[in-house]
Amino acid sequence: KASERESMMLVTEFASSYYEKTLWESEQGKAIGLSYFKERGFSDQTIRTFALGYNPDSWDALTNAALEEGYQLEFLEKTGLTIVKDPREPGGETRKFDRFKGRVMFPIRSLSGRILGFGGRTLSSDKKVAKYLNSPESDIYHKSKVLYGIYLAKKAIAKEDVCYLVEGYTDVIQMHQSGIENVVASSGTALTPEQIRLIRRLTSNIVVLFDGDAAGLRASLRGIDLILEEGMNVRVCSFPEGEDPDSFARKNTREGIEAYLAENAQDFIQFKTTLLTREAANDPIKRAETIRDIVSSISRIPDRIKREVYIQECASLMNISEDVLFNTLAQMGRKQQ
Ligand code: CTP
Ligand code: MN
Ligand code: MN
Ligand code: MN
Ligand code: MN
Repeated sequence: KASERESMMLVTEFASSYYEKTLWESEQGKAIGLSYFKERGFSDQTIRTFALGYNPDSWDALTNAALEEGYQLEFLEKTGLTIVKDPREPGGETRKFDRFKGRVMFPIRSLSGRILGFGGRTLSSDKKVAKYLNSPESDIYHKSKVLYGIYLAKKAIAKEDVCYLVEGYTDVIQMHQSGIENVVASSGTALTPEQIRLIRRLTSNIVVLFDGDAAGLRASLRGIDLILEEGMNVRVCSFPEGEDPDSFARKNTREGIEAYLAENAQDFIQFKTTLLTREAANDPIKRAETIRDIVSSISRIPDRIKREVYIQECASLMNISEDVLFNTLAQMGRKQQ
């Protein structure tokens, strides 16, 4: 199995260099892919750093290039780069299609830099076309275990002792280009314990920077409890409605972004309190729900001293007695571990 995984990674690594070469050297790649990335404000150096690429808009360009180089169809199929279909009629030819036809390509690396899979973005604005297509689950690509950007971010995460967690590929890239390199993306999937543990090897501090929309907010709330359960410290920074870290970073300098983060990143309790009190206003029943919600988050923290400190903070923010909160906490019990 180890040799099979190795064969698969050799194919993804070939594909990545083919996509890069196509982006920089082919007429179609330059006219469509490269100009797309430049319109998004990515510099040549950034495009190279992230090994961005382009899969030609033809049925089997990548597949044929790989087969000509001697890579086996078996591994093209196992990595999901090629979709293989049975012949139309008996005795006919098997049909082979590039999964990422006509898309700009974002290779996804492991912590050690191997290419495990890809995200491919469509250039079409047709709402019926999936904006991003990702590699399917395989022996090398488990979407619940990878974090986009971790290989390029790991040094900076350890050095700064904090990791910014964003939703998307372009958020990581734009922040990195702005000079903020300790950034990784969950790539739109619900955050998983495995992803959090990958970060925990490097730091115990996470700041969640999700998109300024309803989906981003929901994802941040879910993320908070998971991060707390892993025993890590979590802060949250919201963006103005309609902005994501990519669009925000593009409009601001590094200093501007850092100032915004410093001013707006809140401890998870403050974040939940502000958010939920805005909704709860003066409704005592909703206020009670808010308090329960916060205590439920606190109950996930493995460290007892931290739990106590947070109960104190919650009591003072919500103007309620610590005793009541400690009782509620005791009733809930520790949720995890
Ligand atoms: N995503 C996905 N499939 C989709 C939409 C999104 O896998 N159909 C993932 C991608 O990893 C994407 C992330 O979810 O980067 C966040 O989604 P979204 O905010 O919609 O996209 P952006 O990253 O903002 O992409 P862009 O700026 O290119 O529109
Ligand atoms: Mn590895
Ligand atoms: Mn989004
Ligand atoms: Mn986004
Ligand atoms: Mn975006």
